[in-house]
This record gives sequence, structure tokens and C-alpha cells, in this order.
Amino acid sequence: TDHQSDALFGRSRANSKSKSRSSSANGRLGVEDFVFGEVLGEGSYSTVIHGIHRTTRQEYAIKVLDKGHLKRNNKLSTALAEKNTLVRLGSGHPGIVRLHWAFQDEWSLYFVLDLARNGELQSRISRMGSLSTTCARYYAAQLVDALDYMHTRGVIHRDLKPENLLLDDDFRIKVTDFGTGKLIDVPPERATKTFVGTAQYVSPELLEANETSKRYGFICSGARSLPNGISDQFGFGSPSISRGKRSSNSIIPFPENFDPEAADLVRRLLVRDPLERLGAGPPEGLHSMEALRSHTFFSSIRWDTLWDDPPPPLE
Ligand code: ADE
Repeated sequence: TDHQSDALFGRSRANSKSKSRSSSANGRLGVEDFVFGEVLGEGSYSTVIHGIHRTTRQEYAIKVLDKGHLKRNNKLSTALAEKNTLVRLGSGHPGIVRLHWAFQDEWSLYFVLDLARNGELQSRISRMGSLSTTCARYYAAQLVDALDYMHTRGVIHRDLKPENLLLDDDFRIKVTDFGTGKLIDVPPERATKTFVGTAQYVSPELLEANETSKRYGFICSGARSLPNGISDQFGFGSPSISRGKRSSNSIIPFPENFDPEAADLVRRLLVRDPLERLGAGPPEGLHSMEALRSHTFFSSIRWDTLWDDPPPPLE
């Protein structure tokens, strides 16, 4: 019912008595405050459209979700999860898409998000075949930094993959699509009951026990000589989820010329036991986030100026 979505997103203007009032009068934005332009992307329940705020001329990516479609498929909770995780993440990290406003009308929910003009990292990788080790290192480092922030704030993404890493004007990454996001208030080794995410990138514990932990399945898809990404190591395409047990195999078939430090890092990430997985273990331990940042693959990374230093050329 509309009451459901009203509770989640605030009363829609179409339903409210302030229908004819301007946004400045009731303090809530609506579709009429934006000029909608080209379609930037399409998902199963949403379309992302370029939008310009009429008075400030500021540009955004506006994610539009069809309420009818969401309700018919019982996905209102997904939209709520996305909103709640984005709200918790706030504007605190340059590597995470920021939610500026959320509003709704009779038909749709709208998320006004940071515009990442240079699209998905995945499409760059596909177009280029692979990235240089320098580029892969830079993007991996930005992702580690963004993940550290998210996990510290109790947000787990659960569908991390190059399609969900956007590139902004300066070719820095922005993590997006928190529809599978989970909020936790204690250290994140907590059980969940539903399968979410994408089979190619899923961690073993999520696949087998539906148990969520953090930090898995994100780092090697961009590295040169490994154009097909993590699915190469996991060796399970969409038709064969059951072969996911392979992800526990410690023998990963790296291509020739694969950077040895990158290979070492990938081996330490694709580890079945989350407590033994680099970046997922307790603070200060052998597998802590600090240990992940200190891995030799990242030895040339300046973590404190990561978001200010010029990015390496995309090659
Ligand atoms: N496609 C999906 N989300 C986007 C965003 N925030 N910016 C640009 N393109 C997108």
C-alpha cells in the first residue's frame, strides 16, 4: 500500500495536501525541482537518470524506482535498505556515492545521488581488456579505503563488483548500489537469511551458510592479464553456483606475467575462513584492515593523500 512507502520515504507530495506548494514552502524536494535528461543506467527495479537542480544548476544522478514494480515483487525493503545504508554513510567519504535527497510521488521513489560522470569501472575494464598494475593498485587502494570507512560505520555492501564501482569526473571510484546493503551495530560476523548479491563475486560463507562477513571478492578483476575477473579464480559462472566450493581452493590459476605481489594479495583475500582473510580479521591482528593496507602490493600507496593525489592515467 501507499502507507508502506509513505512510512519509508515520507508522504508523497501527490498524496499530501500541500500538492500545489513549492518545495521551498514545504521544505521537501520533488520531481518538479529537477530537469531530467539522459538515462545513465538501468537495473531490474530502477532507472538512473541525469538530473539538473533547477535553481542551483547542480547535476545529479537520480535513481528512480517504480513503486508498483517494487511492491509486486516484495522489494520495498530493498529500497529501504538502500536508503538507510546511504543515510548512515552520509557525506563522510569521497569514495562512496552520496545520497543528497530521497523523495517520492504517486508512482516512484527518487534517490538524488552524486553524479559519477565516467560510468562503471566494469565497462572500462571490458573496453580496455585489462588495467595496468598501477591502475589496478590505485583502484584497489581506493576501494580498500572506502570499505574500511563503510565497515567502520557498520555497513556491509554484499554485492561488491566492478559494475558497482563508478568513476567520477576525476576518475576516482565511487561505490554505489547499496540495495543489498546491510546495517549492523556490532562487529559484522552476523548471520543473515537471504541470498543477495552476484554469484560470481560472492564469498563462500555467504553462498553456503548465508552468513555475512566483510571484505571479499573485489580486488583482482582489474588487474592486467586477468580480464575475466574473479570469476576466473572462482571458476563458477552463472550456470554452476554449486561449484562455488572451488573458491576454497588455494591454487588460483594466475596468468603468466601477473604481478607477483598482486597474486599474493589475491591469495590472501580469497580465503575461505573470514578470520584468516586479509582485511577481515580483528583490529591489530595479522588479518586486520591495517595489515591489508600494509600489504607489499600497496607499498607505493600514500593512504593519507589517496583522494587528493592525481590518479594514474587510465591504461
Ligand atoms: N549510473 C548508476 N548510478 C550512477 C551515478 N551515480 N552516476 C552516474 N551514472 C550512474
